[in-house]
Amino acid sequence: MRILGIETSCDETSAAVVEETGDAGTPWAIRSNVVASQVAIHREWGGVVPELASRQHIRDICSVVDRAMADASSTWADLGAVAVTQGPGLVGSLLVGVSFAKAAAAAAGLPLVAVHHLAGHIESLVLQNGELPLPSIVLVVSGGHTNLYLVERPGSYQLLSRTRDDAAGEAYDKVAKLLGLGYPGGPVIDRLAKSGNDRAVALPTTRLTHADRNAPELKGDLDFSFSGLKTAVLRYVRGREIPLSETEIADVAASFQRVVATALIERLFDAARRYDAKSVGVAGGVSANSRLRADLKERGERRDVPTFLPSLALSTDNAAMIAAAGLRRFRAGHTASFDLNADAALALQ
Ligand code: KG4
Ligand code: ZN
Repeated sequence: MRILGIETSCDETSAAVVEETGDAGTPWAIRSNVVASQVAIHREWGGVVPELASRQHIRDICSVVDRAMADASSTWADLGAVAVTQGPGLVGSLLVGVSFAKAAAAAAGLPLVAVHHLAGHIESLVLQNGELPLPSIVLVVSGGHTNLYLVERPGSYQLLSRTRDDAAGEAYDKVAKLLGLGYPGGPVIDRLAKSGNDRAVALPTTRLTHADRNAPELKGDLDFSFSGLKTAVLRYVRGREIPLSETEIADVAASFQRVVATALIERLFDAARRYDAKSVGVAGGVSANSRLRADLKERGERRDVPTFLPSLALSTDNAAMIAAAGLRRFRAGHTASFDLNADAALALQ
C-alpha cells in the first residue's frame, strides 16, 4: 500500500508518498518527499511569523502535493490512505494541511489518518534505518520540543522527560539571534562552531535533580533545561566589546554547542542505562547537528549500544516521516473521521 503524507505544522509545506515494502524489518520505502521551505520569508523577521506561514502554506500546498504525486509516479487510485499532521504546531499552519487532507481523502474516497508530529520524527528513524532493536530510547529534539521517549513496542511512545523551559532548537535560534547570525540559528551555529574552540567560553551545564511539580508523573532527573545557558551566553556577549570578532563568535558558537550536545547525549545514555535499552536514537531538526551526530556515534561505540539517526533530509520537518507514522497508525487500526480538527497542543499517546 502507498500513503500520501502531508505536513504543514510550522514553516515547511511538505507532501510525500511512502510505500510498504512487505519486509517487516524495513517496512517502508520513500517514493517521493517534497519540501517547500519558507525560511527566506521568515528570515526577514528573525523567526517564524504564524500569519505569514499559514498564508504561504495555502499558496504552496496544491503544487507541493502535485509534485509529490508526480515524483512518486502515483495516481490517486494508487493510494490507500492520506495521512496528515494534526498537531502540535501553529494552528493556522496545521489547519491548511488538515483541510487539504480531508478534501483530498473525501474526493478520492480514501481513509484519513491523523498523525502526531513527534510520532513522525520518531518514525523517521525507522524509515531511515528499519525497525529499531527494542526497547529503544529516542530523543526528539527540535525547535519546539526536547523530549525523551521509551519505545518498548513499535508505535508505543512513553514520555520519560522533556525540557523545563526552552527547547534545544529554540536555544540555538535565540543564541544565533543575540550573536547577530540570523534565522534559523541551528545550521549557522553548527557551521561557525567548526572553526571555534569549544572550551574558550565557560558556560554552565544544568543538571536537574528534583521532580517538576507540573509533571509529577515524570521523575524529573532526566529533564533538560536550556534557558540558563542562553542567559549565560547573553551575559558573556554583554561583557565583551561589540561587535564580537569572528574568532570570538566562533568560540561562543563552539562552546555553546558543546554544552548542548553534552547535555542531550548524557541524558539520553542515562535513560538507556536505566531502561536497559537495546538501541538509542535521535530525531528532529537538531539531530541534523554535526557535533551531536558525531558525539552520539562515539558514545554509542564506547557503550556498545547501537545508535540511530535519520538522514539530514529526514531530520528537519518533512512529510515522509508523517506518511511513515501514518502507515504505522493505519495498520494499528486508527483512522480519523471527517470532523478531525487541528490541535496546536496535541499530546502524544
Ligand atoms: O524539527 P524541525 O525542523 O521543526 C520543528 O518541529 O521545530 O526543527 C527545527 C529546529 C530549529 O530550531 C533549527 O535551528 C534546528 O532545528 N536545527 C539545527 C540544525 N539544523 C536545524 N540545530 C542545530 N544544528 C543544526 N545543524
Ligand atoms: Zn519537527
